[in-house]
Amino acid sequence: MFKIEKKEYLASNIVLMDVQAPRIARNALPGQFLIVRADQDGERVPLTICDYDAEKGTVQIVFQIVGAESYRMAQMEEGDCFADFVGPLGRPSDLCELPLEELQAMKLCFIAGGVGTAPVYAQLKWLHDHGVTADCIQGARTKDILILEDEMAAVSNLFVCTDDGSYGINGNVCVALQKLYDEGRRYDRVIAIGPMIMMKFVCQLTKELHIPTIVSMNPIMVDGTGMCGACRLMVGGEVKFACVDGPEFDGHLVDFAQAMQRMRLYKTEEGRLYLEAQEGETHHGGCGTCG
Ligand SMILES: Cc1cc2nc3c(=O)[nH]c(=O)nc-3n(C[C@H](O)[C@H](O)[C@H](O)COP(=O)(O)OP(=O)(O)OC[C@H]3O[C@@H](n4cnc5c(N)ncnc54)[C@H](O)[C@@H]3O)c2cc1C
Ligand code: FES
Repeated sequence: MFKIEKKEYLASNIVLMDVQAPRIARNALPGQFLIVRADQDGERVPLTICDYDAEKGTVQIVFQIVGAESYRMAQMEEGDCFADFVGPLGRPSDLCELPLEELQAMKLCFIAGGVGTAPVYAQLKWLHDHGVTADCIQGARTKDILILEDEMAAVSNLFVCTDDGSYGINGNVCVALQKLYDEGRRYDRVIAIGPMIMMKFVCQLTKELHIPTIVSMNPIMVDGTGMCGACRLMVGGEVKFACVDGPEFDGHLVDFAQAMQRMRLYKTEEGRLYLEAQEGETHHGGCGTCG
């Protein structure tokens, strides 16, 4: 069973847990995710791998309490066990596959929004361990919900911003990126992880600034194996399934309007029927025809 070794509140509604999962801890790479269930009656919840320790056999998750399942997970205590803890799922970040010299020569800027800070931390830490210190803009609505600031600062050149100006640069992550650009910083790649709306606006800006941009898409997921079709996206005019083809994609090719509309529609039975009618054979993943 997947025992909770450590539990800590990073903010009033954001929880960090270290969970015993030795096989995942040995095989995980930055960018990958898990699907977890608190107990046999629980729903499946996709969560990004925030950190992993192969020696201790633990995997770190950080989640925001936004609804029933994340609330139930937050009620679990140290010593309790998850019924399911499945992963690592999805493709690792492309950066892990680049030759080291190429990686070390790149000027990278990560953009972490809200709880998207957790998956960004995994990537920054991996890069730092490989001799690369990237810039990182970490944004939050307000200072009280800024998480993991010390950890992020230890593995990156960190620029913090808050929407309400209560801490760091006054403004959202796009304001901060424009500011760094105006100060003369140039980047080979931006990697943005956070709410879909944030990634959409980052991509609009980086298109204008001609900076290639990777985003980590977080649509609704159910099976995480490419069969159910819940996480269907349009990327560069092609159908993709975030759980097996992603979750990272070229942000300038992602159809964000479609992704956000689909996420809204997928929540209701009527919406799913509408999507099935619109999307035909590509509504489901996998074989494309099973129900
Ligand atoms: C690849 C991926 C990685 C993610 N990583 C993290 C993470 O590291 N930390 C974190 O806090 N959240 C993460 N999420 C979002 C997280 O899965 C949802 O917040 C969670 O499923 C909400 O469940 P709930 O029952 O508490 O809320 P609900 O009341 O069911 O839903 C609240 C909102 O969460 C979203 N959501 C609900 N179910 C799903 C689902 N099955 N898949 C995706 N989104 C859903 C919807 O936008 C919904 O409006 C990730 C999602 C994906 C797809
Ligand atoms: S969650 Fe991706 S196809 Fe089911």
